[in-house]
Amino acid sequence: MSVWIALHVLAAVVWVGGMFFAWQCMRPAVGEAVAPEQRPALWYPTLSRFFRWVWAAVIILPVSGYMMVFRHLGGMSQAGWHVHVMQALGIVMILLFLHVFFAPYRRLGRALESDDTQDGLHRIGQIRRFVGINLLLGLVVVVIGAAGRYL
Ligand code: HEM
Repeated sequence: MSVWIALHVLAAVVWVGGMFFAWQCMRPAVGEAVAPEQRPALWYPTLSRFFRWVWAAVIILPVSGYMMVFRHLGGMSQAGWHVHVMQALGIVMILLFLHVFFAPYRRLGRALESDDTQDGLHRIGQIRRFVGINLLLGLVVVVIGAAGRYL
């Protein structure tokens, strides 16, 4: 159990913490300091690096979560309500990430290749909205995952 919870919580910290930094710190600073036509060339490689870690997190979170559920808690029917909520919101978060990765993020890469600043900025706006939603969900899931067993 301790190995699985350690992997689980590390993946959650990297994913949710990374979204917090991107949304709360980097996004406003880029808005102030970087000209719009340069933003795609900054965001794309930044997100490429972050998304490698998010891919690891979206694999590790369900694998470690279900290892705990089925090997230690005795299956979903024995798990607390907080684990059910975590599972449901976790799946929504993973689907949103997959959408961001395969739609606006890929199109941002293509816009950068073809020097299409307008489209690039449009894709950055789409990614921002989804990351904002996933950040909110992630903060809620972390609280429910950690505090749920005491409620
Ligand atoms: C995808 C399906 C998921 C499953 C099946 C799952 C399952 C679990 C289980 C069984 C626990 C231990 C609960 C307990 O012993 O009371 C746990 C804890 C936790 N989970 Fe998840 N989880 C999932 C997704 C997520 C996601 C997406 C996040 C965050 C982004 C997350 C964050 C946490 C946190 C912060 C804890 C508490 C760790 C601690 O304080 O010990 N989980 N999860």
